[in-house]
Amino acid sequence: MEERSKNTFYVTTPIYYVNDVPHIGHAYTTIIADALARYQRLKGKKVFFLTGTDEHGQKIEKTAIEKELNPQQLADRVVVRFKELWQKLNISYDYFIRTTEKFHEEGVQKIFKKLLEKGDIYKGIYQGWYCISEENFLSEDVPLEADGYKICPDCGRRATMIEEESYFFRLSAYQKPLLEFYEANPQFVRPQTRMNEVVSFVRQGLKDLSITRTTVKWGIPVPGDPKHTIYVWFDALHNYLTGIGYDWNPELFQTFWPADVQLIGKDILRFHAIFWPAFLLASELPLPRTILGHGWWLKDEAKMSKSKGNVLDPNIILESVGADPLRYFLLREIPIGQDGNFSHEAFVHRVNSDLANDLGNLVQRTLTMAVNYFNGSLEKLGPEEEIDKKLAQSFEETKNRVYAFYDDYNLNRALEEIWGYLNYTNKYLAECQPWKIAGKSETHPRLARILYQAACALRAASYLIYPVMPQTTEKIWKLLGQSKKPAEICAADLNFYERPESFSIRRPEALFPRINLQEFIKDTKKPEGEINQPIRREEKMEYISFDEFKKMDLRVAKVLAAERVPNTNKLLKLQIDLGSEQRQIIAGVAESYSPEELVGKEFIIIANLQPAVIRGIESQGMLLAAEVEGKAIIPFFDREIPPGTKVK
Ligand code: ME8
Ligand code: MG
Repeated sequence: MEERSKNTFYVTTPIYYVNDVPHIGHAYTTIIADALARYQRLKGKKVFFLTGTDEHGQKIEKTAIEKELNPQQLADRVVVRFKELWQKLNISYDYFIRTTEKFHEEGVQKIFKKLLEKGDIYKGIYQGWYCISEENFLSEDVPLEADGYKICPDCGRRATMIEEESYFFRLSAYQKPLLEFYEANPQFVRPQTRMNEVVSFVRQGLKDLSITRTTVKWGIPVPGDPKHTIYVWFDALHNYLTGIGYDWNPELFQTFWPADVQLIGKDILRFHAIFWPAFLLASELPLPRTILGHGWWLKDEAKMSKSKGNVLDPNIILESVGADPLRYFLLREIPIGQDGNFSHEAFVHRVNSDLANDLGNLVQRTLTMAVNYFNGSLEKLGPEEEIDKKLAQSFEETKNRVYAFYDDYNLNRALEEIWGYLNYTNKYLAECQPWKIAGKSETHPRLARILYQAACALRAASYLIYPVMPQTTEKIWKLLGQSKKPAEICAADLNFYERPESFSIRRPEALFPRINLQEFIKDTKKPEGEINQPIRREEKMEYISFDEFKKMDLRVAKVLAAERVPNTNKLLKLQIDLGSEQRQIIAGVAESYSPEELVGKEFIIIANLQPAVIRGIESQGMLLAAEVEGKAIIPFFDREIPPGTKVK
């Protein structure tokens, strides 16, 4: 890839919706961006790395209602979850933008106004189908289903018909300029297949885009016409400008715009490759250099979704193994652009073979010998032999290839190269067999030379790992006794050889303990953290299938009569009405409720629980209650319900 003279680098991630807590997919995009940002900083570039959250729109409005929160509260809660996760993953963003921040809202309004005055935005009537889940207008060629509805082709959910006054963006006017731009910048969208997809889509023609809604309250008001709110995508995309000072810090903005690389998942390609450059053309701003679309992570070959209960919570993996193995796995396992499958087996295999064996053992062997034979300081080096020179020379070649791959956003290839070199170093040790010549004092200079070469190789190769596994590099450099941190060395100044006296090597601890697959599966089979409920780390959840759940016959029961079970503090004997029959149950609720106050009340019981005999009395069912400090609290209904009604 051609080297630009520019000494700045601006990288962005999508801003994530706050309707749900982050999962492995969001982590993936953000880790890629972080690795690119770290690499560019090593190169000495002035970097700006922007990420954040997309907080407006109908989807957030709707989720907030479901969670009985107002949209701002929902956003405030979920934002914490994103920020915490980014911290645990060592994400070195420069700013975390939230679209509910005032400077962003004002920036978007200003752009809206400018385009309105210019005639790129005009008022009309919108009629068509809208998918709330994707926050997207369906194209007209999506067919009507038999039930009179349209189904969103992206998510498979039912769309809603809307007809309302709306402002439109004159997207149709940008078909030609966009095609010309793609032609002149064939690398604008990467990978190439996605660029082709975009070009053929735009060739088919572009319709003007409705960019306001009157039925959505949770959004940025249209300046001067506040019954309209601005369409969430028009709002969100402009974060890439407002986040670096558009309209509030012209100097910052000039320094970093246009973005060097904007990361996205393939799900939001059209928004970024068509709408976004069209908005920028209308605003007469330069277009980003690269839209880098990555593939989709699946869980055990299936799409992750809440309803399947297979959404991977990165927090749980992090707790079990820490940030670097997860960062490494995600970036190494697949080339950016291809889909990947996250399986526990693949993860454990990678960590054990690449990290524990290849890298971990190399560090362990080299450093242990340096400590055992030389007390950690490598002096009196013997002369450099051919095999030693080759180790150094091979590093130079590796380094150049790795830098080229990093420059080209080709992270998995960069890692492959580095691992190739680590294995080459392992081979070097196997050939030189330092353990064989140890103990003979006349061979010490040769032994020192071998361990010195290996230490140089480790120092230099681990530097190359830094963008992907920053903590690991720092640890290795510390064990090698380096006084500088890796990030203090500029990539161009990295040499294989380091002065021998700069190594004061310490006895290593295991860098990457091997993971046991069965234990890892057990440890990570916990529920995804809910928005309303903090993750309970001590609980291990076993999932049940919906079919298993359906086996439970839950019913509304009404208490007809109640009395204490003699000689107990906790138990009440209840006669209950189940609609079609009456039953008797024994319930451990006497510490919270008197028999009198329960009569006439309704609650939920499991009606098909095997009957049990408690204190000699038969109990034909069990009521549901929360346990609070050892006492049972019954959930009651907020209205009268016919006894026997099914609960599901
Ligand atoms: O689309 N595999 O936000 P979002 C890989 N707010 N990446 C995944 C993934 C998976 N299974 N799931 C999600 C939005 N992602 C808008 C963006 S930008 C101006 C507005 C990642 O919360 C991937 O980067 O739905 C995808 O594009 C993004 O999360 C979608 O996040
Ligand atoms: Mg999405």
